[in-house]
Amino acid sequence: MVLAMTKNSVPEKLAFLDLNHQDFEALRSLRPVLEDHADHFVAVFYRHLLSFDETRELLMDAEVKRRLLLKQREYLLSLTDGVVDDAYVADRLRIGYTHMRVGLGPGWYLGAYALYMKLLVPIVLESYRHEPARLEHALLAMYKILMLDSQLAMEAYIERRQQQLEYLNRELGEASRQLRQVYDQQSDELRQTSQRAQAAEELASVATLVAGLAHEIGTPMGVIQGHAELLESSVHDERGRWRLQTIRDQIDRIANIIQTLLNMARPEAREHIPVDLEAVLHRSLAFLSEKFRSRGVEVQLSIEGPTQTIGDAEKLQQLFLNLFINAADAMPEGGDLTVRAFPTANQRIAIEVTDTGQGMPDDVRARAFEPFFTTKEAGHGSGLGLMVVEGIVRDHGAQIAVESTPGKGTRFVLTFPPA
Ligand code: HEM
Repeated sequence: MVLAMTKNSVPEKLAFLDLNHQDFEALRSLRPVLEDHADHFVAVFYRHLLSFDETRELLMDAEVKRRLLLKQREYLLSLTDGVVDDAYVADRLRIGYTHMRVGLGPGWYLGAYALYMKLLVPIVLESYRHEPARLEHALLAMYKILMLDSQLAMEAYIERRQQQLEYLNRELGEASRQLRQVYDQQSDELRQTSQRAQAAEELASVATLVAGLAHEIGTPMGVIQGHAELLESSVHDERGRWRLQTIRDQIDRIANIIQTLLNMARPEAREHIPVDLEAVLHRSLAFLSEKFRSRGVEVQLSIEGPTQTIGDAEKLQQLFLNLFINAADAMPEGGDLTVRAFPTANQRIAIEVTDTGQGMPDDVRARAFEPFFTTKEAGHGSGLGLMVVEGIVRDHGAQIAVESTPGKGTRFVLTFPPA
């Protein structure tokens, strides 16, 4: 354990230095001697401080010099006050703090106590040269009080240093807390990024798999398709032709599903040019006119206001084809398909697609955009249509909403940003 020298009381300090009444008496009687020599003392002390770069630097300012000379003189004479109490200690600590404040290291101001002794000894010697006992007393008393002051200077230094260290420690703690926060945040982001990267990677490998599969299935399907076509000329009875037609229809469906999978697996670079939604709607409806006619679906298209948006006409056509096919499938007994384009209150383009089909209960509607979710009977729907729709909607900065009433029909509302 280190003995704490910094916190002992004034009487204890005095007792340890053996600074006693006789010493104070001796110091008091030195007063007139020091008054006589004070100016010279301070001048020599100051000259000494000027002869070192570091100490000189602190004394460039004329005002500081004036104060310093004055304070040094006061300090020198205060040594002969012959009183050491709490106020004395506080004053000495304050002097120490001042030196810390001006950036003076303890090596300099403690070193200057040697200079004090060096300058004081000849003065006392000369004054008491005929009184050896008095001389000895005076020198010893001077030595003890300067030791006390240098000890207090040291205490001031240690105290300030400790405060600085505690402050730095707190700052360090705070800095490390902040660093920790940044670190946590970054590792969070990193984790998310790597999760996303992993998901993208998995998606890519699924995409590769899908592409390979599509290719593998596509080849034999082409063969089947070709043979079905060849058979057509040699099959003449109604049932046989109907069967052949069914084979070709189903192959078309498979081809469609494969195309959808391929589109998802390798999203083509999307174009970003002005597209007229009105033209896209006309074209998509025209593609399906035969389907509508055979189902007994009546189509109505009405356009109001501008319908130019920015995007990819191919993709948008894919979107509407999907919606219209779903509508037709929802009306096996026929019905009405109403398509309306009109401007919304905030100048976006709304496209409303309404059918009078079977509609969807809430639980089905809630899952309608999920991949591979379908209510069509097995073998009749890929369950990817609305998922593709949603992807295209998102790519175009558009929104899609759906309302449906079982037995009454379904209404999709899409809103596109204007070009
Ligand atoms: C025995 C050594 C020394 C003693 C007893 C002493 C004494 C003092 C005293 C009494 C003050 C006034 C403090 C206050 O009122 O707050 C002071 C201030 C100062 N001292 Fe010392 N000093 C010593 C060594 C040095 C040394 C080696 C330098 C080196 C340049 C120095 C530079 C200064 C400066 C720059 C100030 C501040 C002046 C101001 O801006 O008011 N001191 N010193």
